[in-house]
Amino acid sequence: MNRIAVLGSTGQLGNDLVEVLQSSNVFEVLPLNHAAMECTKHDSVRTVLKKAGPQVVINCAAFVRVDECEDRPEKALEVNALGALHVARTCAEIDALCVHISTDYVFDGSKGSAYTESDTPCPINVYGASKLAGEQLVRRSAPRWLIVRMASLFGKTGARGKGGNFIETIIAKARAGEPLRVVNDVRMSPTYTYDAAQALVQILQSNATGLLHLTNQGACTWYEFAREALELIGLGAAIEPIDSIEYPTKARRPRNSSLESERLNGLLKCRTRSWREAVKAYLVEKAYIPSVTLPATILS
Ligand SMILES: NC(=O)c1ccc[n+]([C@@H]2O[C@H](COP(=O)([O-])OP(=O)(O)OC[C@H]3O[C@@H](n4cnc5c(N)ncnc54)[C@H](OP(=O)(O)O)[C@@H]3O)[C@@H](O)[C@H]2O)c1
Repeated sequence: MNRIAVLGSTGQLGNDLVEVLQSSNVFEVLPLNHAAMECTKHDSVRTVLKKAGPQVVINCAAFVRVDECEDRPEKALEVNALGALHVARTCAEIDALCVHISTDYVFDGSKGSAYTESDTPCPINVYGASKLAGEQLVRRSAPRWLIVRMASLFGKTGARGKGGNFIETIIAKARAGEPLRVVNDVRMSPTYTYDAAQALVQILQSNATGLLHLTNQGACTWYEFAREALELIGLGAAIEPIDSIEYPTKARRPRNSSLESERLNGLLKCRTRSWREAVKAYLVEKAYIPSVTLPATILS
């Protein structure tokens, strides 16, 4: 049985990944949280991984606060680039496959349509640059690597680094009767961490390596994403679409960072579901709406 170490195991993605890997009964899972390993310290990474001896290391550890990265570029590079390097070098030493989780924010968003694995990255903020540096260091340092770019994650624990996820923020504001004004000129591919975890397990079983985009199907604006969630719950809150110029943020965001994959369908037993179906599944999991018969998923 393959032993898999999951770094950042208490994070939004790491948490679902550990659960899905454990329930697959195919892998032995070693969850490694921040307390167990400091990815910015080579000694810590090396000591823990050498002792654990995994055949696969999945690195979900990251500094994900996109705006804070602008003020703290050293920390962004330390965790997202140097941390990735330490993990990749140790994978080389212990002959493990290095699976590195990356982001749609490596792109500048100017393409005007979904990015595939063939497109050239060109980050426009510190977070994206630090994640791209991490990708490049993994490619150069680990003999066997799989880089999986994901996007706009939502999952039951919420992002630890961000203190929640977008859907929860919108629901809380709607319930509190706060005005909802949401950006409608920025497109992305919302992705449910449970689906990403399910797909990643299948990808690992296919022995894939290289670069891969993994999201739920389709793309939308943040306004459309918010409206879908509120409509499904039946919260009749008014929600106003705005332009991003009316919602200035410290870090620039790509206008359209939606992702597609040229490779994914060949690696999975069936396609990931649409982002709308994934939002519905998330709302069921969180008990916001009753369980319904959900359309075919990657589980079928
Ligand atoms: N969130 C998104 O929308 C999004 C979109 C695209 C791609 N991604 C990528 O997906 C991956 C997972 O993101 P997520 O949403 O699951 O983030 P998250 O919930 O913030 O999880 C990140 C994990 O990394 C750990 N960590 C942070 N600094 C560390 C360090 N120096 N050493 C060891 N562990 C450390 C955190 O532990 P502590 O909290 O205990 O420090 C946490 O468990 C990341 O690679 C991210 O770049 C995320």
